[in-house]
Amino acid sequence: MSIAFEPKRKIFTLKTDHSMYQMMIGPENYLLHTYYGRRCGDAFDYLHLERDCGFSPNPYALAAGRGFSLDTMPQEYSGSNGGDFRIPSVLPETDEGIRGADLRYVKHESRRGKYRLDGLPAAFGGEEETETLSITLADAATGLEAELLYGVFEHADVITRAVRFRNAGKSPVVLRKAASACLDLPFGDWDLLHFHGRHAMERQPEREPVTAGIKVLSSERGYSSHQHNPFAILCERGAGEDQGECYGMMLCYSGNHQTEVELDQTGLVRVVSGIGERHFSWKLEQGASFDTPEVLMSFTDEGLGKLSRIYHRFIRHNLCCSKWTAKKRPVLLNSWEAAYLDIDEEKILHLAENAKKLGVELLVLDDGWFGERDEDNRALGDWTPSPRKLPHGLNGLIQKVNEFGLRFGLWIEPEMISENSRLYRSHPDWALKVPERQPSIGREQMVLDLSRPEIAEWMYKTVARLLRENNIEYIKWDMNRSVTDLYSPALPADRQGETAHRYMLGLYNVMDRLTTEFPNVLFEGCAGGGGRFDAGMLAYCPQIWCSDNTDAIARLQIQRGTSYGYPASAIGAHVSACPNHQTGRTAPFGTRAAVAMAGTFGYELDPAKLSEEEQEEIRKQISRFHEVEDLVREGDYYRLTEENPRFTAWQFVSEEKKKSLFTLVLTEPAGNPLPLHTRLKGLHPEQCYRLKWVEYAGCRNWTGDELPQSLSGAALMYGGLTFPRMYGDDPSVQILLEAE
Ligand code: DGJ
Repeated sequence: MSIAFEPKRKIFTLKTDHSMYQMMIGPENYLLHTYYGRRCGDAFDYLHLERDCGFSPNPYALAAGRGFSLDTMPQEYSGSNGGDFRIPSVLPETDEGIRGADLRYVKHESRRGKYRLDGLPAAFGGEEETETLSITLADAATGLEAELLYGVFEHADVITRAVRFRNAGKSPVVLRKAASACLDLPFGDWDLLHFHGRHAMERQPEREPVTAGIKVLSSERGYSSHQHNPFAILCERGAGEDQGECYGMMLCYSGNHQTEVELDQTGLVRVVSGIGERHFSWKLEQGASFDTPEVLMSFTDEGLGKLSRIYHRFIRHNLCCSKWTAKKRPVLLNSWEAAYLDIDEEKILHLAENAKKLGVELLVLDDGWFGERDEDNRALGDWTPSPRKLPHGLNGLIQKVNEFGLRFGLWIEPEMISENSRLYRSHPDWALKVPERQPSIGREQMVLDLSRPEIAEWMYKTVARLLRENNIEYIKWDMNRSVTDLYSPALPADRQGETAHRYMLGLYNVMDRLTTEFPNVLFEGCAGGGGRFDAGMLAYCPQIWCSDNTDAIARLQIQRGTSYGYPASAIGAHVSACPNHQTGRTAPFGTRAAVAMAGTFGYELDPAKLSEEEQEEIRKQISRFHEVEDLVREGDYYRLTEENPRFTAWQFVSEEKKKSLFTLVLTEPAGNPLPLHTRLKGLHPEQCYRLKWVEYAGCRNWTGDELPQSLSGAALMYGGLTFPRMYGDDPSVQILLEAE
C-alpha cells in the first residue's frame, strides 16, 4: 500500500519507491503539510513548532495560545481571507459577497486505481500500479468543498494532484481562482528552474535563487505558450545533473496557467500551480462541481538528470494514450520549408518521389492545400482541397503518394478562422470577439469560439471527415496565434470568465474523440512550433513540433531546455536546408542530423535541391536513425554538459544498458583549445562497450578509426573520452556504443 493513514496522530503518508509525502490533520481540523522528500519510515509532525509571530493572526478557537497561525504553518492547500497572507490556492465568492475560504478537514478515503477528471487529460495507471487518496476540506461560510485528489504512482516516483470543488452550500459560489496544487517547503535554500522563451526560441532554461516575495510564471495567452512553459523545478542550491534534491511541478494543461513561487517571512517556500487566474472565474450552482487540471509532481534527491528521466518515463508510460507512443515513428519529410505555401500536386508528388528514393517513409503536406490559401492571411476554416492546386483532390494525391510507397500526412489548423474565408462569411459570429470592439488579429486570423459546443462539434466533424474520407496516417495539428477577445455570446454575463477554460474543454473533447476514433493516426501537436508543448497536449499527441527554429545550433538549447521535462520521443525535430531559413547559419549536414536524432527525426527540405553527395548522406542518416530509434524513443536520456558555451553533449542509454548513443556538438572552436573531454553516464561499469564512431561532421582529418574502439563502462564514465581537435563551424561527433 502506498497510502496510509495513522489515526492516532492523524497523519497521511504517501510513499513512492524513492519519495514520501506527508500531511496531518492539525488543530481545529486544518490540514497541514508536513513533509515531501526522501522515503523513510518516520513521521514529521514534530518539525512544525507553533510560535507566536507578530501580525500573523490565530484562528478564533486557537487564539489563547497565540502559537498557531495559518500564516506560519505549512498548509496543504491554502485558503484565503482567513489569516494566511501567502499565496492563496482558492478564491471563492458567494452571491452575498462572502469571500475567501477557511478550509477544514471533513473526511477522506483511499482506494486502488487512479481518479479521473471531468473532461481533462490526466495521467492513467492500472489498479495494480496506482492508488488514489481523496481528502475533503470544506468552508462553512461559502459552503464550498474542496476534494483534494492524490494519485500515487509508486514505482514511477510520481504523485499527481488535482482538486474537485463542489458547491455544498445554498447559494451559487464563484471561483475566482482554483489552483490544482499547493506545495509548502518549510525549510531549505531553493533555486527555481523554469523554461521561458519566445516564438522560435522556446523553453530556455533559467535558474535563479528563490528570494523574498512572489515570482509568477504564467501564460494568459490562451495556450500554454512559447513564453512560459507550465513546468517548473525547485532544486537545492547545490543541485546539479547527478546530485541534489529536486521537486518538479508539471501542469497537465494547455491553456492559461500560472505557477507562483513565494518565499515568506518564515523562510518557507510556497509553490501554487494551476489555471491562470487573470481570465478565469467559474460559477458553481448549488450542487455543481468543478475539476481543476492536474499537476504531475515528482521528487528525487539524485539531481536534475534523474528528475528528467522520471518525467520522461512517466509521460511515455502513464500520460500519452496514443499507441504510437511506444511504436517506431515514420521518418517524415514535411513540405513547409521545402515549398511553404507554393504547392500543387505536381510539386508534392515530386517531393514524394525524391523523398522515397532517400528512405523517407511519410510525406507531410503542410499549410497551403485548402481553399484559397495562396497566402497565410486567408482560408482558415475552409478545409476542402483547392481544386486549382490539387485537381484530383486529396484522395487523388494520396493515392499517388501511396503508390510511391510513402504514407501520407496532413497539416491542419482547425481552431482558427480567417476573416477572408467561406466559413467566416457564413459564420462571422463563430470567432471570439468582444461586442462593440474590433478584435485583435494575429497572423491575420481569428480564433474559433470552442467554448460553444456546436463549434467544437463542427471542428470534430470537419477533421473526422478528412480522416474518414482520405488515407491520412498522420496529422500535424497547428495553432498559430494567441487567444484574445474572450467573450462568448452563448454564456450569460456571470459566466463570461469561463470562456478560456471552456475553450480548452472544447478542444480536449475533440482531441479525445478524434484520437479514440482514429487510433492509427499519428497526431503531432504544434503551435507556431513549440508554443503548446505541455503535458495536456501530450496526453493526445505523442509528439509535438518543438520549434519553428530548425537551426541545429539554436535547437541545441531549445531541445536541451525541453528535455528537462519532456522525453525525446515527444520532441519533433527535423533536418532542414542551409543556409538555415530562420538564422541564415550553415551548419554541417551531419551535425543537423545528429541534433534531429535527439527527437522524432525527419526532414524539412526539398531533396531535389541537394547535391548527389548530400542525398547519399540522407540515405545514411536515415539508416543510422533506424539503428538508434528505439534507443532515442525509449532509452534513458542524459545531459552530459551543464550550461556550457563550448560544446553540448548528450546520451541515450537503453534500459538494460546494452546500447547507447553519444552525441557532441562543438559550438565554440578556439585557436588553441583546451582538450575536449567529457564523461559518459548511465552505463554498466563492468560492461565492455564497442565504440562505433558513426558521425564526425565537420571534423577535419579524422575518421574515428584512431580513437578507442572498445572501452569499459567504468572507463567511459569515470575517465571519459578525449576528442582530437575539431575545426570549423559546429562540428559534431556521434558514437554508437554496444555491449560486447
Ligand atoms: C507554424 C508551424 O510551426 C510550421 O511548421 C508550419 O506548419 C506553419 N505554421 C504553417 O503555417
